Amino acid sequence: MRNEYELMDSGEGRKLERFGDVILSRPCEQADWSRQTPVAWSTACASFDRDAGWQPVGDSTVPESWTATINDLVFQLSPTPAGHVGVFPETRGLWNLIHESLKSTQRDNVSVLNLFAYSGGATLAAARAGSTVCHLDASRSMVTRARENASLNGLSEAPIRWIVEDVGKFLDREIRRGRRYDAIMLDPPSFGRGIKGEQYKLERDLQATLEQCRALLSETPLFVLLTAHTQGMTSGELENRLSDVLDSGEIDRGTMDLTGAPEVRRVESGMWARWSHSVRNST
Ligand SMILES: C[S@@+](CC[C@H](N)C(=O)[O-])C[C@H]1O[C@@H](n2cnc3c(N)ncnc32)[C@H](O)[C@@H]1O
Repeated sequence: MRNEYELMDSGEGRKLERFGDVILSRPCEQADWSRQTPVAWSTACASFDRDAGWQPVGDSTVPESWTATINDLVFQLSPTPAGHVGVFPETRGLWNLIHESLKSTQRDNVSVLNLFAYSGGATLAAARAGSTVCHLDASRSMVTRARENASLNGLSEAPIRWIVEDVGKFLDREIRRGRRYDAIMLDPPSFGRGIKGEQYKLERDLQATLEQCRALLSETPLFVLLTAHTQGMTSGELENRLSDVLDSGEIDRGTMDLTGAPEVRRVESGMWARWSHSVRNST
């Protein structure tokens, strides 16, 4: 597997990461421990701070855009005003899980819905497994970026529907149209906005979103994969949210970690829970 991402160090409220040739230092609230390799931090070319924004380190310049391969997927990356770069590397282990789960079904015409889909890591993992994917995000620029990423990965002709829409409105419409999906993936933000400024609050809206997802599952569903980056939320909470809404299934769960070389401390950066339709309950 080709991978050009690594967590190099963390501590004192920051993380040091390499994306291809670009090394960045960014805030990381949970890293309230000491740094393991203080000397490595001078290798960063840019550093992000909420007040100062992106700043070059030493004689370097802040890169405008570049590409990096992360777990076999190529991403177009660029620094955003919020300190992001266009990929959440803690989700990379899940791309493999998604790809393997879909590939191993050996079913034709598996349809997958990816909500809050951002720059498309999960979409591309599903498309590469041969599934038909519907990719939804309220941000037009992120959907454009995801399409560019599809093309960088040789998937520009893959059966992917690209939708720029508010999640609640889109799901209501899909239910009215009678559409069904075999697998649904969703990564709701703690707080987000739809295309017309509609507010999405995970605490308030997740239950309704999951109920809409249940209504959209096919008669032979594979899985619903719920991920979250909300501080303080546990994978147990995600499991309970799923089991409130979906029955006759099994749930596995875990954390999403930033990782690097074996000796580098991993940093928990989110969590996931996956409901899978029980084999014994399938018809
Ligand atoms: C946490 S990011 C998702 C990260 C992504 N799943 C990944 O792993 O790369 C949240 C995404 O939700 C989108 N979003 C926020 N509110 C939304 C809404 N009401 N409807 C649709 N998308 C929304 C944002 O544009 C953003 O791309």
